[in-house]
Amino acid sequence: MVIDLATRFEPKIVGFLCRWCAYTGADLAGLSRINYPPNITPIRVNCSGRVDPTLVLKALATGADGVLIAGCHPGDCHYINGNAKTIRRFKLLQRLLQQFGIEKERVRLEWVSASEGGRYARIVESMTEEIRSLGPLNWKKEMAIAA
Ligand code: FES
Repeated sequence: MVIDLATRFEPKIVGFLCRWCAYTGADLAGLSRINYPPNITPIRVNCSGRVDPTLVLKALATGADGVLIAGCHPGDCHYINGNAKTIRRFKLLQRLLQQFGIEKERVRLEWVSASEGGRYARIVESMTEEIRSLGPLNWKKEMAIAA
C-alpha cells in the first residue's frame, strides 16, 4: 500500500507536560535523538494536577485534534498528590468529552518519568496514529456553525 504523504492527515496534538517528569522525558527523547512524529506541541506545566479540564477543552476548541496530559508516575509527583488530582479530573473530563460528542481517545493521560524518553516517543507515536485514524476533530468549525 502506498501512502500519499502530501495529502495524509497530520493531527495537531497539544501536550500538557509536567515540568519535573514528562517534559524532562520529552527533552531526553530529543537529546537521545529518538525519532517520533512532530505532531505534538508541548506546553510545560508545573504539575499535571494544574491542567484544568477547561484548558483541554480550549485546546480542542481552538484547533487541536487531540490532547496529551502527561505527568510523573503515581507516587512521584513533586507536589505529593497533584497527579492523584489529575486522575480524578481526567474521569470528569472524559464525561465532558462524551457529552460534547468527542471521542475519548482524543485525550490521553499518561505517566512519563524524566528518564523515559523512549516511552514518551512511543506515546506520541501511538497517539498520532490513533488520532490520524479518527480523522480531524473540526470542533472549532462545528462550534462556529452552532454559534
Ligand atoms: S509534579 Fe509531575 S505530576 Fe505533579
